[in-house]
Amino acid sequence: MNGNKEMGTAVVTGASSGLGEVFAERLAKRGYNLKLVARRKDRLESIADKLQSKYGITVTNLVADLGSETDLKNVVNDLSADKSITLLINNAGTSTLASTTTTSVAKQKAMVDVNITALMLLSNAVIPNFVEKNEGTLINIASVLGFYSLPISAVYSGTKGFVVQYTHGLQEELKGTNIRVQLVNPATTATEIWEVGGVPLSALDQATIMTTENCVDAALSGLDQGELATHPSVNDQKLIDAYEDARIKLFQGSQSGRPADRYIQN
Ligand SMILES: NC(=O)c1ccc[n+]([C@@H]2O[C@H](COP(=O)([O-])OP(=O)(O)OC[C@H]3O[C@@H](n4cnc5c(N)ncnc54)[C@H](OP(=O)(O)O)[C@@H]3O)[C@@H](O)[C@H]2O)c1
Repeated sequence: MNGNKEMGTAVVTGASSGLGEVFAERLAKRGYNLKLVARRKDRLESIADKLQSKYGITVTNLVADLGSETDLKNVVNDLSADKSITLLINNAGTSTLASTTTTSVAKQKAMVDVNITALMLLSNAVIPNFVEKNEGTLINIASVLGFYSLPISAVYSGTKGFVVQYTHGLQEELKGTNIRVQLVNPATTATEIWEVGGVPLSALDQATIMTTENCVDAALSGLDQGELATHPSVNDQKLIDAYEDARIKLFQGSQSGRPADRYIQN
C-alpha cells in the first residue's frame, strides 16, 4: 500500500467519467488509496495509471455493472471484506430523461437498479465496518431532482428522492457516532450523463451549467465544513435553511392524529 496509511481507502463508484473521475482525483490528492468502480475498464485503467503515478497512491479497479445482480454482489462482497475502507462515495448514476410512456421498462429499471439498489447495498456493505471502528465517511450523490420533478424526470427524480430520504435516515441512525454521512445535491453539471439521458448539454441554458471540478470542490468543501446536506450551486444559505425548517415543521404538523379542519364536513 502506498498513499497515506491514516487516510485508508476511498471507494468511488462511477469513477470512469464526470463527477466520479474528479472525486477520484481530489481524493488521491488528499492521500487516499482508491477503489474505483464502473463498467468501462479502459477508462478506469487510464485514470488509475494517471493517479498512481501522479500521487503515489494505490488504485484498485472493480470493473462492474452495478445494474447486474451478480456484479453488484461481487462488489458488495469485496467492500464488506475490505477493512481498509474509510470512505465511500456512492456516485454512480444513470438517467433517461423522457416521459414514462416513451421510456422502456428496461431503462426505467436501470435507474432504479443503479441509483437506488446499488447505492443501498453498497452502503450496507461498508456501514457495519464503519460502526465497528466508529469511524468512516459515506457520501451519497443525489440531485436537485431529488426534491423536484420535471415532466421528463418522474423515474430519475423518484430514484434521487430515495437517495435524499435514505441519506437523511442514515444520518439519524448514525447520529452521535464518528461516522459522517453527507448528502450532495448537484444541479446541472457538465458531464456525460446528459448525453446518456437523451438531453444534450447544448440544449440547456448555458448559464445554469456548472463544471465538474467546481461541483466536486464545493461538495468536498461542504464535507470539510461538516455539512449534512451540500447544495453546490445554491448561493443563498437562507433558502436551504428555510427548506430544512419547512420539511421538519411539515412532519411535526402531521402528528395531530385527526383530520385537518378542511376535511371535516359540517
Ligand atoms: N451531471 C449532472 O447534471 C448531475 C446533476 C445531479 C446529480 N448528478 C449525479 O451525479 C452522479 C455522477 O454522474 P455524472 O453527472 O458524473 O455523469 P457521468 O459522467 O455519466 O458518470 C456516471 C458514472 O456512473 C457510472 N455508471 C453508470 N451506470 C453504471 C452501471 N450500470 N454500473 C456501474 N457504473 C455505472 C458510469 O460509468 P460506466 O459508464 O463506465 O459504467 C460513470 O462513471 C450521478 O449519480 C448523477 O445522477 C449529476
